[in-house]
Parts: sequence; C-alpha cells; structure tokens
Amino acid sequence: MTGITNLGEKRLVLVSGRAHPQLAHDVAAELGIDVVPTTAYDFANGEIYVRFAESVRGAEAFVLQSHTAPINQWIMEQLLMVDALKRASVNSITAVLPFYGYARQDKKHRGREPISARLIADMFKTAGANRLMSVDLHAAQTQGFFNGPVDHLWAMPILTAHVRSRVDLDNVTVVSPDAGRIRVAEQWAAKLGGCPLAFVHKTRDITRPNQAKANRVVGDVEGRECVLVDDLIDTGGTIAEAVKVLLNDGASSVIVVATHGVLSDPAPTRLQECGAAEVVVTDTLPIPPEKRFPKLTVLSIAPLIARAIREVFDDGSVTSLFDGNS
Ligand code: R5P
Repeated sequence: MTGITNLGEKRLVLVSGRAHPQLAHDVAAELGIDVVPTTAYDFANGEIYVRFAESVRGAEAFVLQSHTAPINQWIMEQLLMVDALKRASVNSITAVLPFYGYARQDKKHRGREPISARLIADMFKTAGANRLMSVDLHAAQTQGFFNGPVDHLWAMPILTAHVRSRVDLDNVTVVSPDAGRIRVAEQWAAKLGGCPLAFVHKTRDITRPNQAKANRVVGDVEGRECVLVDDLIDTGGTIAEAVKVLLNDGASSVIVVATHGVLSDPAPTRLQECGAAEVVVTDTLPIPPEKRFPKLTVLSIAPLIARAIREVFDDGSVTSLFDGNS
C-alpha cells in the first residue's frame, strides 16, 4: 500500500458561541469533555472576533450556538466560528443549532419576500459546515434547504416522559394549536397510547408579526385533560388564545408543551395568566430568571444533543434514538 497511515484515532471537539454557555457546558458534561477554550468579543462597531485557544487540526468539530436574542448577532458569531474551524484544518464541522433561527420564514406568503430559512442553510454551507444538527424544526422539510446531512432531533421522548407523569392517560386529548401541526400531534397521540386528537382553528394576519387568532376547537375536549403541543412559544399569543378556547369548550385542564421557549415579551405574563395548569419547554434556548414564572417547567435538552453528537462521531445511528423515526 502506498502512502502513510497514522493511528487513525478520531478526536471530537465541542466549541460554543456566547449565546447559551450553560447548554454547552451541560452537553460537554454529558460527553465527558470540556468545551474548547475560546476567545470571543465584540468590536466597538459590533463586529465579532473569535479564536480557539488550542489546536483543532484534524478534529471532528461540533459548533453549538443557540439562536436566541439578539439572534442576528449569535447567528453571525456561529458562522464566524465555522469559518475559523475550516481555516484551522478540522476534519469535519457540524453546526449544532438547537433552535434554528428564521425557521418560520420557510416559504413566500406574498411576492417580494425572502425565504430566510433557506438563506440560513446557505450561509452555514458557505461558511464551511459539513452537517447541521437541530431540534424540532418548525417544518421538517427545512432539512432539504441544506445541501448535506441534517440530523433532525426530536424532543418528544423527553417531553412525553414528563407529560405522562402529569396526566391521566385514559382521559387525555392531544391538541394542535393550528391545522399545520396536526401531524406532530398525531405522533404525540401515538406516543401517549393512541389518545384522541383535536386542533384549534387559528387564523393569522400575515401583514403583522406575532398576530394570531384562535377561532374555535375542532374535536371534542369537554371534560378532557388537554395537552397542547407546539414547536415554539414566542410572544405566547398563539398558545394563550388556544388555552382560552379549550377551557371555554369545557377542557378540564390544559398542559402546554413546546420544544423552544423563545418567550419574547409579553409571553411570561400571558402564559402565567392564560389558565394553563403548566407550561413545559426545553432549554434549547436560554431562559433567564426574569422570564421564568411559577407554572413554567424547563427540561434539559443536553442529554439528547450529547447522544446525537456521540452517534455522529461514532458513525452510529441518530435515527435509533427515536425508535427508527426521524
Ligand atoms: C406558528 O406556526 C408557530 O408554531 C408558533 O405557534 C408561533 O410562531 C408562536 O408565536 P407566538 O407565541 O408569538 O404566538
């Protein structure tokens, strides 16, 4: 055989931006490693500087960043980290986006609009990412915007395990907050033992951001413990409206479950006051103390992300984490 062979040992490194250091720390702890020491700061005009403090040559690099507010700054920082890794001769780069920013803008509703979710994918590709990893994309088909492998993780196993301990499975109904998420609600219903489904007929003014109106419930919720499942809660308008129509239609209780707690103002107040018994989210996004409220439960996403990273690194199966579904 020609050429030179080495020991062939792969090296996994985890680098993180500044958006959600606690999540990076938790994922690293699950993997039994430390986050690569990194310098990152802003120049006076808002430009960002990043540099890794140790060699990453030949490594399999995972770059974690939560797309939280100020979202454009954190996306840019993650892109710069991908670029820095590429120029530092890593072997592969996986951009880990626990929450994929701009995922809601995945199609043109009207002429002369961007398809922002596609642009995000293109920017990561251009920067040098070989692979993306994300949790509960707003629409699964967003995977197709990135020309390369996308590991689409589901928070459902974590969330359903919690909900199972909170409801009477013989009297539970899974509710989708709009018609577009019925497929996800179906998967939830199957996971909770084949319970009934309902959905809220929601309409939206597409000329104004964060404006939704819950018109009525389709399905029977009277006397039922409802589990209202969404991918994200931003201002809380969608969910607060949905909880109200469910309670008006006679639901005995409502638990709200969402993967991503964006929780822009006035979400904490709306959610606390909407009548839900509990609001459950994961920590794909940081939830600072001032956004927390007594009815909020935050579940850790770190074990899932760490397991998926390990599967990718070991050339294993990410799909195996979700009973063969992904
Ligand atoms: C909409 O399609 C999404 O799944 C969410 O329901 C929505 O973006 C949440 O936004 P807000 O909390 O501001 O109503």
